[in-house]
Order: sequence, then structure tokens, then C-alpha cells
Amino acid sequence: MEVTGKSLVDRIRNRNARAGVVGLGYVGLPLAVEFARAGVTTVGVDIDGRKVAEIKAGRSYIPDVPSSDVAALVSAGRLAATTDFASIRDLDTVNICVPTPLRKTKDPDMSYVVSAAEQIAKHLHPGMLIVLESTTYPGTTAELLQPKFEGSGLKAGKDFFLAFSPERVDPANEKFNTRNTPKVVGGITPACTRVAEALYSVAVDTVVPVSSTQVAEMVKLLENTFRAVNIGLVNELALMCDQMGIDVWEVVNAAKTKPFGFMPFYPGPGLGGHCIPIDPFYLSWKARQSGFEARFIELAGHVNAAMPEYVVQKVGDALNTQRKAINGSSILALGIAYKKNIDDVRESPALDVMHLLHQRGAVVHYADPYVPALRAGQWNGGFDLTSLQLDRERLERYDCVVILTDHACFDFARVGSDAQLIVDTRNAIQAATAAPVFKLGAPHTDARTSTLALA
Ligand SMILES: NC(=O)c1ccc[n+]([C@@H]2O[C@H](COP(=O)([O-])OP(=O)(O)OC[C@H]3O[C@@H](n4cnc5c(N)ncnc54)[C@H](O)[C@@H]3O)[C@@H](O)[C@H]2O)c1
Repeated sequence: MEVTGKSLVDRIRNRNARAGVVGLGYVGLPLAVEFARAGVTTVGVDIDGRKVAEIKAGRSYIPDVPSSDVAALVSAGRLAATTDFASIRDLDTVNICVPTPLRKTKDPDMSYVVSAAEQIAKHLHPGMLIVLESTTYPGTTAELLQPKFEGSGLKAGKDFFLAFSPERVDPANEKFNTRNTPKVVGGITPACTRVAEALYSVAVDTVVPVSSTQVAEMVKLLENTFRAVNIGLVNELALMCDQMGIDVWEVVNAAKTKPFGFMPFYPGPGLGGHCIPIDPFYLSWKARQSGFEARFIELAGHVNAAMPEYVVQKVGDALNTQRKAINGSSILALGIAYKKNIDDVRESPALDVMHLLHQRGAVVHYADPYVPALRAGQWNGGFDLTSLQLDRERLERYDCVVILTDHACFDFARVGSDAQLIVDTRNAIQAATAAPVFKLGAPHTDARTSTLALA
């Protein structure tokens, strides 16, 4: 019997369908909470028993999701969590939100997606909808997932529904969240798209259907490649400005007054997070298989990947003006999360800067209230560190303070007045300071001699 999808769409609209989310991380938990909040009974499945236990106890481990929301939904019976994939048997829809990292060789690591799909395939039943949300190369849903699910004898678009919908979570964004960020959806067949559209429509204000899973997959890669390339461009401009004695920050801030045709991107110590440093390489890997060389992606990758090394060079130059070497200097890394106001250190360039400084003989410590501890396995320094409190005595003690993440909670005026020497990769220091400041992409300032000098 062919399944038209109408009955599932009706059940979704009437909030009688049961939804599942596989992978309860930065993407999966907010989505599961949004489905549950919309009145759909939702079960989260994760292999990490600690996360499941936290949700069962009504606690959130994702900063953008308040524990009070999780607690209320769990006690109302609308949100549950389990490590048991057999619960998928009773679900009507499943969203896959597992990691898609890169291997050391910069090839896609699809092992999490494959393992989740194999578990789901065991419990696939007629009439079910499965949506992949993990960022991946164009073709994944049709080439990798569809055959796995059809191994059960059921046919996509006929017996069950399969779609791809890219995730656009932006941690710590106060304006855009899961509900008000438009969601792109592309199915294996038009019926698949329709059913997936119905699912997202209960939890997301605007759903944007596209013609295929490949288009939906490519949309995400365009969005993130656009960022990676533009950040690469502005990072290169920062290096150029450093050479030419021009302040790149002033340039970008003036350029962004143009009300059309320009969008500001800012330089920094390098790319971080689970998306921008990784996703473009999913695309270049896939393009290479078709004999196409993605030159912009590779070039931006080179420029961005070289930034931590450049920051270290800048620290060396700054210390040199004080007749000091990196070797033996004490250096405080200020902020180590990959961007401001979040707790995520995945792929954070700050960790590379710290490692490179440590490798050159510096004594490296860090202060980041969002990251109370850094375990040996999280960076290449090979030992555990804990975040230090910022106080005058401490700031005065370090030979150099390197600003790597401009969290809003940092008192940069105090840093400016108490530190001996500052390297600022984020344009965080805005006012005149007692200490010399070496800004990325700008002439260095030294209030003691009241001069502007080239770094
Ligand atoms: N974090 C972001 O800002 C963001 C934004 C857009 C897209 N994405 C993409 O979304 C996907 C998920 O990213 P994330 O940041 O939520 O990752 P995450 O690491 O925070 O969460 C992934 C979760 O999946 C679980 N998991 C791993 N393998 C599993 C399996 N086989 N079965 C069940 N659970 C499993 C992990 O335990 C973890 O809880 C990735 O493809 C990522 O590129 C992330």
C-alpha cells in the first residue's frame, strides 16, 4: 500500500504525531525543545548517557536553551530522552542532528551519520519521515541514506519520506533562534518535501521548500562558504593593512556605512566552531570527485588557517619591543571560545595560538568565564588548565595579554590600564590605554610615547 503522506501531515498538524531527534547537541536539543513547545510529543535519542540523564532531570546543557523550558516540557510529558534506539519504532518522524566533522586529511567523516542511519534503519516503518539536518556534502541524503533505508525493502517517497533540511543555529544570537530563522527543506520526492514542510511548519515561522535534497544540502554549503571566503578576504586585508600602516577596523567600519552592496566581515585570529572551518571542505571534497577544483574555498582555507601563526608572530613582535622573547615570557590568553559570549571551544583558533606560544617556550594561561576548564585532550598543549579570574595583580604580572575572544563580560578598559603589553586580535581595546597595544591589522599604539608606529 502506497503511503501518500496525507495522514502523517494531518497527524503532525493535529499534534498527534510523535517526533524524534537523534543527536541532542547544539542543534538537536533546541530543535527537540521547539517541537515539544509546539505541542508535538518529542523523544530525543543520543548515545551520550550524560546528556540523556540531564534532560530527564529537566536540565539543559546548551546555553541558548533555558533549563526551565526543558524542565517544564519534561514534566508535561512532551519531551523525553533516551539512549535506546528501539524507541524509534513508536515515532512518526526522526530528525538526524549528529556531528559531521572532518578527518585529519580534511575528508568528510560520515561515521556518525552512518551509524545513526543504521540504527534508525532497524526501526524504520511505513509512513515515517526522516530528515537529515547534519551539514554535509551535496548528494549525501540520496546517495548514502536512501540506499540504507531502502535496504529494509521500503521505498523513499512511496513507503516512507526522506528529506534534508540544513540547520542554521547561531549560538548566542539574541535575535534569531530556531523558531524565527527560516528553514530550507528539500525532499527526495515532492511528497517527501511536503511532509517535511508540514513538520517544520509547526515549530518554525517560515519554511522554504526547494526542489531536491541536493539543493538543500548545497544551500548550507553556500551559506558557510560565503562566510569562510569573506572572512578569508578580510583576514588578508588585515595582513595587508598591517604592512601598510592602515587600520583595517576603521576601514571596515567606514565601508559598512554603504547601505547597499556591502556586508561587513571582521578579521580575527582564525576560524572556529563546528561549521565555518569545516563545511566548505565537504564541498571541495565532493567537487574534487567530479574533477572540479574549488579554488576560492582552498585559498580562503589557506589564509584563515595561517591566522593563528600570524597572531603568534605579532606577539613575538610586541614582546620584542619590550626586549623580551616568547620563550620564557608569561602570556595570558583572554577568551578562548571560538566566538564571543559562547562556551564552545571546538576548532577555536585561540587553542592554536596557545599551543603555538607554548611550543615556543611561553608560559601560557587563560581567562574565559565561559570555559572554566580546558582539558588536556581539548588542545595540543597536552595538559589541563583552568580559567583564571581577571584582577589587577594578575593582569600586571603577565608579560603579554593576548585578546582572542571579545566576550561582552570582559572589562577591556581595566585590561588596557592594568596589562603590561596587549595584543588585540578583535579590536576590543577602544580607548587610549596605559599599555602598548598591538592590534591585528592596525598600526600599534603606545601611549607612553604618544606615537603611532608600524608593528
Ligand atoms: N553547532 C552549530 O552552531 C551548528 C550550526 C549549524 C549546523 N550544525 C551542524 O549540525 C550537526 C550537529 O552539530 P552540533 O553542533 O549539534 O553537534 P554536537 O556535537 O553538539 O551534538 C551532536 C550530538 O550527537 C550525538 N551523537 C553522536 N553520534 C550519535 C549517534 N550515532 N546516535 C545518536 N546520537 C549521536 C552526540 O552525543 C551529541 O550529543 C553537524 O553536522 C553540524 O555541522 C551545527
